[in-house]
Amino acid sequence: MPLSSRHLLGLQGVPKEDIELILDTAHTFREVLDRPIKKVPTLQGKTIVNLFYEDSTRTRISFELAEKRLSADTVNFSVSTSSVKKGESLKDTIKNVEAMKVDMIIIRHSAAGTPYYLTKICDSNIINAGDGIHEHPTQALLDLYSIKERFGKLKGLKVCIVGDISHSRVALSNIFGLKTMGVKVSVCGPATMIPKRIEELGVDVIYNIDEAIRENDILNVLRIQLERKAGEAFPSLREYAKYFGITKERLDKNGKNILILHPGPINRGVEISSEVADGSDQIILNQVTNGVAVRMAVLYLLGTLN
Ligand code: CP
Repeated sequence: MPLSSRHLLGLQGVPKEDIELILDTAHTFREVLDRPIKKVPTLQGKTIVNLFYEDSTRTRISFELAEKRLSADTVNFSVSTSSVKKGESLKDTIKNVEAMKVDMIIIRHSAAGTPYYLTKICDSNIINAGDGIHEHPTQALLDLYSIKERFGKLKGLKVCIVGDISHSRVALSNIFGLKTMGVKVSVCGPATMIPKRIEELGVDVIYNIDEAIRENDILNVLRIQLERKAGEAFPSLREYAKYFGITKERLDKNGKNILILHPGPINRGVEISSEVADGSDQIILNQVTNGVAVRMAVLYLLGTLN
């Protein structure tokens, strides 16, 4: 069965069957990444444009590598070197890009809803690479893949998303994806970083990090997003680290083997200590590797749907 949509705008409302199909397809592409020649001809002849209106390291390189591994033609767009700097609007930019006969557009933008807007003004397949504080679906899919790779299943596991929930598109996409796959989801952080009425999404709220460690199988530790003024939600970074930072001492104190995820980039010494970020409980770089396979799966499934 193909995917139920020709775009990937978020994980809200995406059926379980679609997520399973993406994760299963990613599994076959993950094997390609370990080959000496990491390339398949699957998207030969397709043209994909990566439009990044916001900074990125992982997502941008990961999409570009995934496109190249699938033999697609890829073009990268950076705002800083484009005619956006001369005042060209988003709509005009997209219309001009599409006039060059592209098939798919990957978009990261600071405004929530931009990927949805693109589906209204162009014919290409649209993939959301992060829109403001809304969703980051491929990050959540790679998190799901990495958890499933480690535990062999998703259903019945307990995941706590820790930190700056209110500014996090990773949190929202994870909540939607994990819930759909039968995972018990909670969030933990200072009250000022937990959105009001988040329980209505079917998640528990925990305000004590030690309790979160004791009660869960996995912690997905989020970055404190200082560029989105997250630092104003607590007195100091030092205080945040003291009460919510994931340290080896804290993990040992709670006597728990728990799997640590982090989407990156990391604020070392704030939400996570270097000892944990580089230690044996985490799979942070494994997430990054799996991200290429997951994005290959999404590109393949959408690119061959038309
Ligand atoms: N995880 C993530 O989205 O990282 P980048 O901002 O570097 O793409």
